[in-house]
Amino acid sequence: MPDPTVPPGCLTRSEGETEGLAAALASELEPGAVVLLSGGLGAGKTAFVRGLARGLGIEPGEVSSPTFGLVHEHAGGRLPLFHADLYRLSQVEAADVGLDDERMTSGVLAVEWPERLSRDVPGALRVRFEILDETSRQLTFDGPWPARPHSIR
Ligand SMILES: Nc1ncnc2c1ncn2[C@@H]1O[C@H](COP(=O)(O)OP(=O)(O)O)[C@@H](O)[C@H]1O
Ligand SMILES: [Mg+2]
Repeated sequence: MPDPTVPPGCLTRSEGETEGLAAALASELEPGAVVLLSGGLGAGKTAFVRGLARGLGIEPGEVSSPTFGLVHEHAGGRLPLFHADLYRLSQVEAADVGLDDERMTSGVLAVEWPERLSRDVPGALRVRFEILDETSRQLTFDGPWPARPHSIR
């Protein structure tokens, strides 16, 4: 039976709304949570990660598009936030980009372009972004809400 607390979808009408939704989610997340963010360029994935940062009590201005191949770590909040963007990669093993690092289990891991991963991440919360128009995005959630602790290994 679907979990009644899981919003199956959500329409946001501004970048701020997307951030706010993510910030609300962040307050529910536990160490080891993995959030996978799918959608085209400009869909709002990084905006969502900024919201996660804000919700965790991290300065959201720190969050930008991560450098190719690197996992950015943001400390100073309730939990550390790890942020990876796999856009420029072709198929990769999670281990090749350090997503299996022991440290990830202590915080929240947000991954843009998770389709690049060669294997599924069981237990992750998936958020799919669709661009409806200039300021509207349809977000669809799949998986546990909030994402339950687990490791990407
Ligand atoms: N409802 C919305 N949610 C998120 N971003 C939005 C929305 N409407 C417009 N935007 C704009 O879309 C862009 C999203 O950029 P970004 O978060 O970097 O996308 P991605 O990481 O998916 O490539 C920003 O310029 C933002 O201002
Ligand atoms: Mg991005």
